[in-house]
Amino acid sequence: MKIKLGARNCLYPMPTTLVGATVEGRPNFVTIAHVGIMDLGSVSLGMAKAHYTNAGIKENGTFSINLPSTEMVQQTDYCGLVSGRRVNKAKLFNVFYGNLKTAPMIDECPINMECKLMKVVDFPKHDVFIGEIMATYAGEAVLADGVVDYGKVQPLLFTMTDKSYWKLGERFAQAWSVGKTLTRDE
Ligand SMILES: Cc1cc2nc3c(=O)[nH]c(=O)nc-3n(C[C@H](O)[C@H](O)[C@H](O)COP(=O)(O)O)c2cc1C
Repeated sequence: MKIKLGARNCLYPMPTTLVGATVEGRPNFVTIAHVGIMDLGSVSLGMAKAHYTNAGIKENGTFSINLPSTEMVQQTDYCGLVSGRRVNKAKLFNVFYGNLKTAPMIDECPINMECKLMKVVDFPKHDVFIGEIMATYAGEAVLADGVVDYGKVQPLLFTMTDKSYWKLGERFAQAWSVGKTLTRDE
């Protein structure tokens, strides 16, 4: 017997990200876990309209998505507790820029994606930003034969249901492969 929970979004865990934008001429970072993959080259962000960061993304048409590792949990949580309206959150990090010039990225994060804004979907309380990934940066330490190894990235996972951070478990099967054993019975 299943217990009905009502219409609750249980699509967790999600990676916790730090989204970077230039706001009023300065870099700002905001913690965002409601991120999505649109297709292999584009992403979405669900960002409450009240956030300081939104205006900067709209003004410049750019943003970055930075993946913090579990050891950055305090800085990441802090960027979700305070607003750039009041505090300079960028001072916590070494900031760098790529070709887009207005999408600040965090050197301490093992993975950074520099994005160009494609579309804003206007939800009642949220802006859903859809962006094309223009460039991706990875720290050498998280690569294995040129491919990102998430065991090395140690992404910071987030669940809304209990407002908690989690660590990634172990790799245990090969995709597009482990299911092949069932093709024997087709
Ligand atoms: C773990 C975590 C995840 C969050 N995810 C989101 C999110 O997906 N969307 C959102 O609108 N706000 C999210 N927030 C809230 C914003 O990060 C927070 O309101 C922030 O202070 C806004 O910063 P800003 O005013 O500088 O833009 C999250 C906060 C935390 C701690």
